[in-house]
Amino acid sequence: MTKEEAFVDERVKVHGRFLIPILQDIQKTYNYLPEEIIRVVADKLEMPCRDVYGVATFYRSFSFVPKGKHVLTVCVGTACHVRGSTRMADALSRELNILPGETTEDKNFSLETVNCLGCCAIGPIVVADGEYHGEMTTQKAIKIVKDKEKGTNE
Ligand code: FES
Repeated sequence: MTKEEAFVDERVKVHGRFLIPILQDIQKTYNYLPEEIIRVVADKLEMPCRDVYGVATFYRSFSFVPKGKHVLTVCVGTACHVRGSTRMADALSRELNILPGETTEDKNFSLETVNCLGCCAIGPIVVADGEYHGEMTTQKAIKIVKDKEKGTNE
């Protein structure tokens, strides 16, 4: 049995035939959904690969390319944009030297933008590793990066 098969077997034991929680565990462990593991999942759940991909591509939280250890998502929807989120995303781009949708070379950070997270009243919003930060400023966003860098290097 390969390492990937053993991993998927474990996840199937925990989640049964529920595909989304299995994919969430894979995403969390590998930071993306590797093709070889998608094949194993399809095999174990006795479903066509294209159906697994069909579900995975429907959700933004799944990625088919490796993401960074830390994922920063800046909301650039209208309410956040008018409060400066686009400038904040630009500043993070410069700080990390990547464009939205990209991952730093050292695989430490991925930067993403999104068009509304449904909590406009406390915008602008930055989601850092799944944690929502409201009323953000560029300074606060850069501090998040610095803190995560420190945490990473400790
Ligand atoms: S526009 Fe940013 S949360 Fe709605």
